[in-house]
Amino acid sequence: MKTLSDNQIVSNIEDIEIIDNFFTKECFLALRYRMVFGKSFNKQYEGYLALDHYPNEDYLTDCIVSELNYKKKLPKFKRGWSFVYAQNTKGVHMHCDPSEVNLNVWVSSDESVDDKTKNGLNIYKILPPLNWSRKDWNNDGSKAKDYILSNNVKPIKIPYKSNRAIFFNGAYFHETNSVSMKPGRENMRVSYTLLFGNNLE
Ligand SMILES: [Fe+2]
Repeated sequence: MKTLSDNQIVSNIEDIEIIDNFFTKECFLALRYRMVFGKSFNKQYEGYLALDHYPNEDYLTDCIVSELNYKKKLPKFKRGWSFVYAQNTKGVHMHCDPSEVNLNVWVSSDESVDDKTKNGLNIYKILPPLNWSRKDWNNDGSKAKDYILSNNVKPIKIPYKSNRAIFFNGAYFHETNSVSMKPGRENMRVSYTLLFGNNLE
């Protein structure tokens, strides 16, 4: 299966690269259905379920990564995950990931959105202090928020859009801008994240 669309639309929001119409229709639907119709997940968080995607574990992830490597200069693919969220929830709290580049893509539809002011991604262009542990920058959302507030860093708000990819430094703090979708399994918000290169640890 070809995974990356030939009709990608590249833009940027405050120097963060955005690529719309990212996956082919076939890949997009395969990625969504794997999550909305799945019953087995690797982790359960408050308000969302997660599947892990490691190199050489499934054909689809390997295909995406190899096509990406052909099109784009990226550090080594480390791991990925996908989340499927409850209809109305906060989403992922403020955190950093240990990567040079994060690729985030939404594979739910635009028609599934209830509150159009929500469902996006807020990115803060600030790195954690060098003496912070993984627990500090990945698990302690309130400590991260205090740090961002004290440095007066405002979020870059990337609006939700179906099949929109965002490439950014995974070590920047980021959080979901809440989740608000229409009811029904096929309307559930689904996001994929792939991590490239090592950072912070
Ligand atoms: Fe993240």
